Amino acid sequence: MKILVVGGGGREHAIIMKLAESKKVSKLYCAPGNGGISKYAECFPVKATDIDGMLELAKKLAVDIVFVAPDDPLVAGMVDAMQAAGFRTFGPNKAAAIIEGSKVFSKNLMQKYNIPTAKYAVFNEPQKVLEYISNENTYPTVIKADGLALGKGVVIAANFDEAKNAVSEIMESKIFGESGSQVVVEEFLTGPEVSVLCFTDGITVKPMISSMDHKRALDNDEGLNTGGMGTVAPNPYYTDEVAKECMETIFLPTIRAMQSEKRSFKGCLYFGLMLTPNGPKVIEYNCRFGDPETQVVLPLLNTDFVDIIEAIENESLSELDINWKNESAACVVMASGGYPKKYESGLVISGLDEMGQTENCFVYHAGTKINDNGEMVNAGGRVLGVTATAESLPKALAIAYDGVKSIRWKDVHYRHDIGNRALKAIKA
Ligand code: AMP
Ligand code: GLY
Repeated sequence: MKILVVGGGGREHAIIMKLAESKKVSKLYCAPGNGGISKYAECFPVKATDIDGMLELAKKLAVDIVFVAPDDPLVAGMVDAMQAAGFRTFGPNKAAAIIEGSKVFSKNLMQKYNIPTAKYAVFNEPQKVLEYISNENTYPTVIKADGLALGKGVVIAANFDEAKNAVSEIMESKIFGESGSQVVVEEFLTGPEVSVLCFTDGITVKPMISSMDHKRALDNDEGLNTGGMGTVAPNPYYTDEVAKECMETIFLPTIRAMQSEKRSFKGCLYFGLMLTPNGPKVIEYNCRFGDPETQVVLPLLNTDFVDIIEAIENESLSELDINWKNESAACVVMASGGYPKKYESGLVISGLDEMGQTENCFVYHAGTKINDNGEMVNAGGRVLGVTATAESLPKALAIAYDGVKSIRWKDVHYRHDIGNRALKAIKA
């Protein structure tokens, strides 16, 4: 089988590496890909959001399956376009991807089908939002842009002034474009966060190994929100008991709700959960694999990935046993100095070759490219995800940080405390 993976980050690198293990795969392509991916898949400079360009590429390469990994092409309907042209696909169609594409949609869905989530209200006028926040007078309060915003459309406002600023930026200055035409104001929840990625064919839902993201840029969860600075799997807060409750109150009800709405979801549905004192609640849905969650989840998968893709396509997921390694994984993201704000690119990365080959440690590339001199340079905010698997989390973390130590470029930035919270939970 020839498979084209759409996207070009660490998540796509992890998807490619798992697909490469499949005995059914003869050739892997990626667009746009990146410097690291190009060693394992032939890359083409087509933007992930360019539906026409991607369709042309899929036709030219005569691929068997198109795997659409990022949120924006999914929400824009790339899967629909590929299917209309006769391609087999992985990823939800446009009607289903709205579960991530519109927070107003997902909040209304949860309310209609009694799926536990934070209390909320929806607004399309800045004045009305501020009146509501002022009347509620409970802080912190959470303000979310309706649409996609590169993972940055959520503001946790500590007081009225911060809320006013956020509303003005989102709804008036439109810093996230039309994504901010509507906002959701939400009750602030507390508790440990868990990411659960699930395979689903629209009928059956099979959770993958749970994971924990680290979203803030700096140690001790300080600094700005990022796409994710590191992950560990499994997440120790996600006990068997919690998993059972989530299946009954969240996962199955969501899959059935999407079916009832005639928006049957096929692919990977990502549940961003908070384990509150009142039980698990949904913080967000993503219509795709998470980044950097994928980098710690997929290395633990034993089952042939293509078998899963085909079972989802044929709606026979209930008949497939999916097996996982009984191990832990840790991923430390190495980012460009300044990320998530401005950073310099084109800086030569040293120490990579050795580390890519260390046993049980793999370096997923997120923002890299090979320059004209054949050197690997940084080309994005998040640059590498140094990932290790081992029989325990402390071991996996030690190996990953050992890998990090050898890799250098000017102004490199990473967190030193990935996994600390999980380790505390394991000890407690
Ligand atoms: P999201 O983009 O929806 O995942 O939100 C980003 C982060 O904001 C989440 O990972 C949470 O840490 C935080 N967050 C979002 N919604 C809430 C909420 N209702 N209460 C507390 N924290 C939240
Ligand atoms: N790591 C969070 C996400 O992929 O949305």
